Amino acid sequence: MAMASSTRAFMATKTFQDARVPLVEKRKSPRRRRVRGASHRATQDASRRSTDVEAQVRVSPKDGASWNRRTWMHASLVAWCVGCHVWATESVAEELTTKQMEEETPTCQVKRVFVAGSTGQSGQRIVRQLQQRGIQVRAGARNVKKANQILSNATEGGAGVEVVQADVTWDVERLRQAIGEVDAVVCATGFRPSPDINGVFKVENLGTKNLVDASKAAGVCKFVLISSLLTNAPAVGQKDNPNYKFLNYFGGVLDQKKQAEDCLRASGLNYTIVRAGGLTNDPSYSSGLYVSPEDTLFGLEQEPGREICRDLLASICIEALFQNKATNKVVEVVATGNADPPKQKWFDV
Ligand SMILES: NC(=O)c1ccc[n+]([C@@H]2O[C@H](COP(=O)([O-])OP(=O)(O)OC[C@H]3O[C@@H](n4cnc5c(N)ncnc54)[C@H](OP(=O)(O)O)[C@@H]3O)[C@@H](O)[C@H]2O)c1
Repeated sequence: MAMASSTRAFMATKTFQDARVPLVEKRKSPRRRRVRGASHRATQDASRRSTDVEAQVRVSPKDGASWNRRTWMHASLVAWCVGCHVWATESVAEELTTKQMEEETPTCQVKRVFVAGSTGQSGQRIVRQLQQRGIQVRAGARNVKKANQILSNATEGGAGVEVVQADVTWDVERLRQAIGEVDAVVCATGFRPSPDINGVFKVENLGTKNLVDASKAAGVCKFVLISSLLTNAPAVGQKDNPNYKFLNYFGGVLDQKKQAEDCLRASGLNYTIVRAGGLTNDPSYSSGLYVSPEDTLFGLEQEPGREICRDLLASICIEALFQNKATNKVVEVVATGNADPPKQKWFDV
């Protein structure tokens, strides 16, 4: 029934109506030309010259034999139109079925996930939530001992977590080995303040690029990257946005993130880039998810929200692993504190 109503709905759309136009025109326009056009003789002459079926229908005279022929041809034409209509309806239904199946059947069967930055505040939430969903996790961390401490309670009552050492500044082959045999990668890394003046570049830009290349080499079928609002600010008239100026002041972090985003987009990997608003652990920002297309949220006062709790951010990253609608999308996310939209609609942007 659902399919039938959605088929009807689609048939009412302009796309479907437009698709039918040639059928209607083929039948109507010749008649119009006969009435408004040249004399009857002229049309008879045209009839004699004409060899195609369409022209014969257009100019048929009114004698009995021709009436039969016209009636027969008219019937054929109607049958043809009806046939086409049925065929078109069936094709639309078939197309809808295929489309729905494409949306619902995961292109990537995610059973094992590598999380880069698993010791971070977002990373550890992603690890826990994955585990609660029964997904095996390879938790990448610079410091294995620290990761084991942070994630020690992560293994209770859920799928297994294996901590592996991984630094995104490593070379691609070494990183590939750290990633191991997983289906997907989530990148939750972020630079830590350090005396290294190139630290931001090394983690946010080069590091993410290394991870993308290593993921490709490891043959993963999905890559989810946590990024930030305003990474593309200069290109969309927001270079004087005070939020952009303030955040980017630290080593050009937003510009570095943008370059990493571009690398991922060009990689050929199935990706989702989740550009988050200001991160917080305050649970009042863990509901009322507002998802917007790329370059539409700028952290401004008048927007529906400017912050988001890391718990909700972790849920979005995980949904992106399982929903086909998240394929090759950049989404901008903040929380409004209202009721959450259904998960199936999170990537309808
Ligand atoms: N703060 C915000 O308001 C905000 C807003 C939007 C987006 N974001 C972005 O969201 C992401 C997550 O933020 P968060 O606050 O949850 O992160 P976080 O707590 O700062 O954690 C950062 C993680 O990255 C890891 N890391 C740093 N350098 C690394 C390297 N070379 N190799 C591997 N791992 C490395 C850290 O490992 P160690 O534990 O070993 O240091 C840590 O696990 C970041 O990319 C951040 O820029 C933040």
